[in-house]
Amino acid sequence: MEEALRAAERRLRDAGVPSPRVDAELLAAHLLGVSRGRVRALALTGAQVPEGFDALVDERARRVPLQHLTGVAHFRRVDLAVGPGVFVPRPETETVAQLVIDRAAGLQHPKIVDLGTGSGAIAAAVADEVPAAEVHAVELSDLALAWAGPNLAPFGVHLTRGDLATALPEQDGSFDIVVSNPPYIPADAVPNEPEVAEHDPQMALYGGGADGMELPRAAASSAARLLRPGGYFVLEHAEVQAPWVAAFLERSGLWTAVTTHQDLSGRDRATSAVLATDSTPPDTTGKAAP
Ligand SMILES: C[S@@+](CC[C@H](N)C(=O)[O-])C[C@H]1O[C@@H](n2cnc3c(N)ncnc32)[C@H](O)[C@@H]1O
Repeated sequence: MEEALRAAERRLRDAGVPSPRVDAELLAAHLLGVSRGRVRALALTGAQVPEGFDALVDERARRVPLQHLTGVAHFRRVDLAVGPGVFVPRPETETVAQLVIDRAAGLQHPKIVDLGTGSGAIAAAVADEVPAAEVHAVELSDLALAWAGPNLAPFGVHLTRGDLATALPEQDGSFDIVVSNPPYIPADAVPNEPEVAEHDPQMALYGGGADGMELPRAAASSAARLLRPGGYFVLEHAEVQAPWVAAFLERSGLWTAVTTHQDLSGRDRATSAVLATDSTPPDTTGKAAP
């Protein structure tokens, strides 16, 4: 098996795959139904390469995401089913989930919503690690909902089909925490990696507007509507957007404690804020107050 793994590694490296040896081992592990560590041990014993290995390596060399080939994305302690039509959760979003989990730890029965849940990654991880929480998730894409439904059902998450800009109006003012990793890429910033550009759904990537900020702004407006006074909002964004997010939250006058957070590589990738206790939820009905 070692020779086949080496050949796969060369093939994947030539195709520009960033971690060719790891991916080769993970594909073999997937086919054998064992851990990657076990594959490395088997490789030393002269075991045969599993059937179907070359076909999977071919697909990976065509830059099909590893997680689409194995059918699973690992996110914190949760294994999520993923494939075509749903955004593959990213490691930096685990830091965003951590902010939610830390905040929820101080609350007895926190009510939490994840806006734009995709595969359900944040909602599932929070429900898993904060069992006393009531967790809701909102998603607009039917393709993503087809993945999120089965991923979230075991965790008792309440999943709603809806637009994050208008979702759950009947629950306005009732949430302790709102979290969102919305689409935020600017329209003209097409990602370089084929795994992203060709396989992540467009609807999961582009935030709207030249700066990609339309959906992040909509998530913040919804958070101000959905949270109780003193409630906590966490938003993931691109590094370049960190000052813009802080500025629009501060300028709105609705938020206090606006704080930028770094991911594990030190990039400003999330912002949290607390809904001011004297804030008045914005009028989303379009009717002016008398
Ligand atoms: C960047 S992905 C993040 C998915 C997931 N939260 C994660 O972190 O892995 C953004 C998600 O928002 C969804 N989305 C896009 N526009 C939306 C909208 N207007 N309302 C609700 N969800 C939306 C996309 O379908 C996608 O699943």
